Amino acid sequence: MCGIVGYTGKRRAGPILLDGLSRLEYRGYDSAGMAVRDGNKLAEVVKATGKLIHLADKTDQGRALEGTCGIGHTRWATHGDPSLVNAHPHVSGNCTGSASGPVESEVVGVHNGIIENYAELKEKLLRHGYTFYSDTDTEVLVKLVDYYYNKYKIGPVDAITRTMVRVRGSYALGLMFQDYPGEIFAARKDSPLIIGTEEDASYLASDVPAILKYTRDVYYIENLQVARISPGHVSFYDLNGDERSLPLTTITWDASAAEKEGYEHFMLKEIHEQPEAVQNTLNSLAAEDEIHLEEAGITQEFLAGLREVDIVACGSAWHVGMAARVLLEDLAGVPTRVELASEYRYRSIPTQDDTLVVIISQSGETADSLAALRAAKERGAATLAVVNVVGSSIAREADHVIYTKAGPEIAVATTKAYSAQLIVLYILAIALGAAKGRITSEQKAGYIRELRTIPDKIRRILEEKERLQWFSSKIVNAHDIFFIGRGLDYAMSLEGSLKMKEISYIHSEAYAAGELKHGTISLIENNTLVVGLLTQSALYEKTLSNMTECKARGAYLMGITPNGNFQVEDSVNFALYIPRTDEHFFPSLAVIPLQLLAYYTSVNRGLDVDKPRNLAKSVTVE
Ligand code: AGP
Repeated sequence: MCGIVGYTGKRRAGPILLDGLSRLEYRGYDSAGMAVRDGNKLAEVVKATGKLIHLADKTDQGRALEGTCGIGHTRWATHGDPSLVNAHPHVSGNCTGSASGPVESEVVGVHNGIIENYAELKEKLLRHGYTFYSDTDTEVLVKLVDYYYNKYKIGPVDAITRTMVRVRGSYALGLMFQDYPGEIFAARKDSPLIIGTEEDASYLASDVPAILKYTRDVYYIENLQVARISPGHVSFYDLNGDERSLPLTTITWDASAAEKEGYEHFMLKEIHEQPEAVQNTLNSLAAEDEIHLEEAGITQEFLAGLREVDIVACGSAWHVGMAARVLLEDLAGVPTRVELASEYRYRSIPTQDDTLVVIISQSGETADSLAALRAAKERGAATLAVVNVVGSSIAREADHVIYTKAGPEIAVATTKAYSAQLIVLYILAIALGAAKGRITSEQKAGYIRELRTIPDKIRRILEEKERLQWFSSKIVNAHDIFFIGRGLDYAMSLEGSLKMKEISYIHSEAYAAGELKHGTISLIENNTLVVGLLTQSALYEKTLSNMTECKARGAYLMGITPNGNFQVEDSVNFALYIPRTDEHFFPSLAVIPLQLLAYYTSVNRGLDVDKPRNLAKSVTVE
């Protein structure tokens, strides 16, 4: 997820673009850049890696750039490492992509989104004599616009609509054309984009905070529309190039609320971004009914030769491993170990040349996980990183890397990255099972089709979040909460317990349901809350009986179970139903009520949900 901005009017564009980007840094912050035009002169492009402050320093807070029309970008890398060459804006001309200054280019652009078929489009453009300086899908997009602009010579709107018909994926696009000084062209599909106006200026932005300081009057450009933006005037076009009119909306939010798109906390916003994170991650790994791991360098032969998988991680990422183990053993028949990174590195594990060690990490910088990766490589194992930050240390040092497409995760308590990690591990288990001949191509296609239903099923759970908000108000003074389950439900209870502990500060334990009676059940007192995960048909009755054993000792029972298991209400005090799916994939659905329960409990306790005490988003110390 990146941030784009644009301005055209009577004032110097540089400082306005920088100010806008600073209010979008939560959308991505590994590099940034802007392109500013002074009348008919060539656009001047300046880029910088790292935080936005470096771009501000490089341009004297934007004042060094002449010109009153420009576009800007703050990057969250999805294709290509966070480098100067890969930073936006991207240009249609032949250049190195890293130098700053005026560029000989017809088209200059910034983009937020993911172009899924960029590789085939790049091949097409190479055949037509284009050369490329970066690894990004955005450069391909900008050069494709240039290709159609020069081929048909009808104008920017025509070139952009032809490009939109040709590309697959998501985009919020800001473009400037050399022949159209003072104007910005924009297009949108599935990525957020708004256009603001005031009397003698117009603004383009990924999100409201970037322009709220200048105007509250905005157009919400619709999907598959193009906008032509000049100072104080905007016109809209559909895919056929026919002009369309849009209503002007007045924003009522304040700046802080707008950064969270109206949500009270980043965590709640990110909980609601999970359908998109799951969708984008799945789309990056599976097209139609086929799985594509080639980009990670993982071939069928490589998978077929594996004899063991070791999953190594910390915290919630480790919980993903605990769930993945069930699928890897069930679907692929491959022995799987799940190890805490902080322990794994001290183990004297023998050389493992047909073992795949999977390091799961949202940040890609967790010190324990990085150390475990290095230990695995020393032992001769093949290593795969599943990370959310492109170019992070773990991504760079692993033999193979699969990126989750969750976008920047701001809240310390992970939600959307966790859900995206689950998808990657599901896909790995399915691909491994197919490579081993344990599942047929029809079964593989069936699993992929079922995974495509997960985003909407998450949305359905989120639509009923008020029930959890109500229930959390009843447990606000709890001292001990137990989460229990068997098999995949045990893996889920681990995540439910950690979420509750880390943001509500209520002590909690996750327990294998069958293990309670071996001691811990002595802790159950009157009104102790026991949350039972009841999604696995072969196991949930046993868990239910463990729950009633707790109830007999005074416990208050909450059960999370698929729609239709209404008999659960004969035993529990509060039943929360989730949509049905293939039982392997219930973790993606059961985790949503667990996240919401923890979130609302923390809010009810008046705590800092996004920045809980004692915690950091990335634990880069051992
Ligand atoms: C999750 O809510 C926690 N904030 C924490 O356990 C986290 O999962 C753990 O520190 C691992 O971080 P990583 O995924 O960035 O490696």
